[in-house]
Amino acid sequence: MCLTDDLVEADSLTPPSVDRAGCVQRCKRPARGIYERVLPKQGFLHFAVELGSLRLVALDTAVPNQGGGALCAERLAWLDATLAETPDTPTLVMMHHPPFLTGIAHMDRIGLEGREDFAAVMRRHAHVEAILCGHVHRPTSTQVGGRPAMICPSPAHQVALDLRPEGPSAFRLEPPGYMQHRWHDGQLVSHVAVLGEWAGQFPFFDPDGNLID
Ligand SMILES: [Fe+2]
Repeated sequence: MCLTDDLVEADSLTPPSVDRAGCVQRCKRPARGIYERVLPKQGFLHFAVELGSLRLVALDTAVPNQGGGALCAERLAWLDATLAETPDTPTLVMMHHPPFLTGIAHMDRIGLEGREDFAAVMRRHAHVEAILCGHVHRPTSTQVGGRPAMICPSPAHQVALDLRPEGPSAFRLEPPGYMQHRWHDGQLVSHVAVLGEWAGQFPFFDPDGNLID
């Protein structure tokens, strides 16, 4: 499980395999004791772990007491060097703040500084299968530096889909959601799903194999 969002409190998590890559203004920094298996003893909360044939690289984009994130030269150098360690291993980069503008103006205003430099790092590492982010509370996808980049829906509220420059800061109680990523035969397939009680599931075919209209 990859948790990058700001509505997840470190205190509620059991020790990794649950890993948290993000942290913003309203959150306590995650308790290092819980994560000591993977987190550095000091400095930025980056880490890299192997998960079978896949590698996960988590990047700390947080700026204390600020909604937006940043990637300084030190963070980018860590990312570049860490990715260079295993150029033949398919890798997911996890980070809280997305490294692209979404068009939702009030969220872009608290977006990520250093996007262009991050994209340049991505262009050097074709083994990055995907960049997984949170922060925006709405499923969104694009490419950054030639790599797929996607924002997971929020398990709570969703930020209103309003692409007007003057759009207000607002959210909607759309169904909460999550992403499920499948790594199989060297291919990453990412599903967006919603949480809640829904009618079904219903079969497409009756017991005789006939399509039910
Ligand atoms: Fe956030």
